[in-house]
Amino acid sequence: HQGMTSFRVLPKVELHCHVEGTMRPTTVVDLARRNGIALPTADPTELYRYDSLDGFLEIFWLVQSTLGTRDDWARLGHESVVDAASWGVVHRESFFTPARHLAAGQDLADVVAGLDEGMAAAEQETGTTCFLIADIDRAYGPGAGLALVERLVELRRAGAPGTERVVGVGMDSTELGIDPATFAPAYDAARAAGLRLTAHQGENSPASAITTCLDVLGVERVDHALPVLDDPDLTARVRDERIGLTVCPTSNILIANSFPRLADHPLPRMYDAGLLASVNTDDPALIDLGLDEEYAAVAEAFGWDWARMVEVALIGVESSWLDEDAKRVLR
Ligand code: ADE
Ligand code: ZN
Repeated sequence: HQGMTSFRVLPKVELHCHVEGTMRPTTVVDLARRNGIALPTADPTELYRYDSLDGFLEIFWLVQSTLGTRDDWARLGHESVVDAASWGVVHRESFFTPARHLAAGQDLADVVAGLDEGMAAAEQETGTTCFLIADIDRAYGPGAGLALVERLVELRRAGAPGTERVVGVGMDSTELGIDPATFAPAYDAARAAGLRLTAHQGENSPASAITTCLDVLGVERVDHALPVLDDPDLTARVRDERIGLTVCPTSNILIANSFPRLADHPLPRMYDAGLLASVNTDDPALIDLGLDEEYAAVAEAFGWDWARMVEVALIGVESSWLDEDAKRVLR
């Protein structure tokens, strides 16, 4: 049976992972103490408990709030890539969502320079490479989203440290009651600056919201995209335009409560429809699951053998934002 197979040695690309969601519980406790953030418990194993997307986001925001200084971001960046490498991740494209830090007076330049410093050191140590995706937090609204992109573009033009690692812009957090089209100014600014584009959509919103992301925001990937198969026209378009869907099966069970069991997840039907769906963890520390274990869980749930999981890994390579030369090395 595949359930016991270890996928650690299979080289994997991870395209949907929030750097704050990789924070080791011990690091959360340590940074909270240093920065004077009150935690509901001092026991790291007690920290990551939630029973809905909103409950999860409360914890996610608490974890984010422990990041107070450039050095904190550097430590997080370093540990996140070291841990990813230990799971056999050879390349990751990692979200960071600085809305509440910027609102609290941190400078985006420090966030990016810190993450870059830690990630660069870990890349040297492990050989695993990491891109950054600047993520808009929907809860802060379209104005904050545009301000984030404008500041990022300004820093890139000035050649600020670490900005070359930020290859794209995304959008996360709550979906309910939010029209993605209202974020068009931020996406237009990002596109004009040559940044790659993705958005979380369809974690708990309908297929029509995914269509809006393609039509209005011009995204090249969609993160989650769970209801894509509900709409045959959208399905055909995602297949024909080779839109990457960054799927997070275990997250969908534990965080969004979308399905009772992995076996009920639409991933196999996405493949039957010819879609480029990659497998990712979303928030590995918060769900206590590395990408090797995510692969093992998927293989077990759907009865897929090693060769099938190699195909899954190659879809990650194809939908990554690596250049052709780098992709060729990984194929
Ligand atoms: N931020 C981190 N994880 C998230 C998720 N699963 N959905 C929305 N926003 C997130
Ligand atoms: Zn996510």
